[in-house]
Amino acid sequence: MSYTYELVADELIKDIENKVYAAGKKLPSVRELSKIYNCSNNTIVKAFDSLKNKHIIYSIPQSGFYIVENHISNNHKMSDIINFSTGNLIIGNMNTPDLKHCLDRAVDIYTNNSLINTSGGGVESLKNVLPNYLSNFQIFTSSHNIFINLGIQQVLSIISKMDFPNGKIKILIEDPTYRFFSEFLRYSNLEVITIKRDEKGIDLKILEQIFKNNSIKFFYTVPRNHNPLGTSYSTKQNKEIAKLAIKHDVFIVEDDYFGDLSTDTKYDPIFSFGDRKHFIYLKSFSKILPWIRLGLSIMPDCLLESFKYQIELSYYTSYFTASLISQATFEIYIRSGILFKHTASMKKEIKEKSILLQQNLKRLKRFDIKPIGGKNCFYFYLLLPDYIDEKKLVEALKNRKVLVSPGDRYYYDKENYKKGIRLSIACVSTQEIKKGMDIIVEELDKLYNYSF
Ligand SMILES: Cc1ncc(COP(=O)(O)O)c(C=O)c1O
Repeated sequence: MSYTYELVADELIKDIENKVYAAGKKLPSVRELSKIYNCSNNTIVKAFDSLKNKHIIYSIPQSGFYIVENHISNNHKMSDIINFSTGNLIIGNMNTPDLKHCLDRAVDIYTNNSLINTSGGGVESLKNVLPNYLSNFQIFTSSHNIFINLGIQQVLSIISKMDFPNGKIKILIEDPTYRFFSEFLRYSNLEVITIKRDEKGIDLKILEQIFKNNSIKFFYTVPRNHNPLGTSYSTKQNKEIAKLAIKHDVFIVEDDYFGDLSTDTKYDPIFSFGDRKHFIYLKSFSKILPWIRLGLSIMPDCLLESFKYQIELSYYTSYFTASLISQATFEIYIRSGILFKHTASMKKEIKEKSILLQQNLKRLKRFDIKPIGGKNCFYFYLLLPDYIDEKKLVEALKNRKVLVSPGDRYYYDKENYKKGIRLSIACVSTQEIKKGMDIIVEELDKLYNYSF
């Protein structure tokens, strides 16, 4: 279901593209447009808001709305591709006025810093506000355990090659898992063991056996809003994983890349059940503030020295920490409370889109397709029956300009593979969800009729 203002905004975009309204020129008044598009003034005002957020138009007080010059070449939404395949948000669709405010204030607050402040694990004033911020997510730590970095992937690549105090050597991952990390592991020739994960989670008895019988340095897990499954562990499972890690002297590397957008207020991360010795917590801000490329990690005391040493080394080769402007902008986001306002509006949008996709996925039941995950998060995994060749489906959809991700790319071991495709709502609008699902159903109909 699309809102009227979204349909009107789309019509306006098409007319701008078709040069009915010329770039750089003023748009007709709200009243005139409401007559042209046969809707209320209020609908036009809302459509204007949406075009403003997408940077297609801008307002000049007491004059009116103008079309941005050259917007068409810069604007992804002009493409007719429906992209269910990416987890990366389009920056222009997000709230840029807040960003501009925070950037502006950021310039003022770090005047006493210099480039040298980027050589460690983050600027002190930012690190000092983080324990309080993290306590909102049941993460209790002190600033000296926190490191600011460029994102989760960067930390994973460093710790995977580090010696750990338990003296063990192998890395255990869930299968499927976050693709970029599993590819990193494969290409780095590191010793990896996998444990199957499905809609119910992992088998904790098997986890204990693996912990007991193998030299596991750490277990990398994405407990909530898993990518690609879109599912989360229960509190009981998180508690049990923490207990087993302590018992068998295995480190847990908890990737909480979606934590800020989670709507489950009762959720407790694995870290919250930990002993402050075996638990590394990783947070990414790529999903909420993609323009500043920033993340944080919390290291236990026993890893502080060796991790600091590694980031010093990596500074010499790749400048470990985020830029001062990113850190200062982020600090303003937190200190001003804008971050919570920003995540609240994102959560609302994700909820709307995920409910819409969930409703539409019911249409796939007759094809014997089982959707999992997707509850208030970006990712849905569609388990496919035998008669569907997922490569053919992905290709057929691509030809219809609908992009989806084949499931096999998220699996490390081919034996663990559960045939499917991943759908992401990160960069599709509500209209695109509806239109994309119509196309998916049409293509599935063809496959179904061909097979039976
Ligand atoms: C599970 C998971 N972890 C980490 C990341 C990336 O985090 P970062 O950009 O901070 O490296 C992603 C990105 O989609 C992800 O899905």
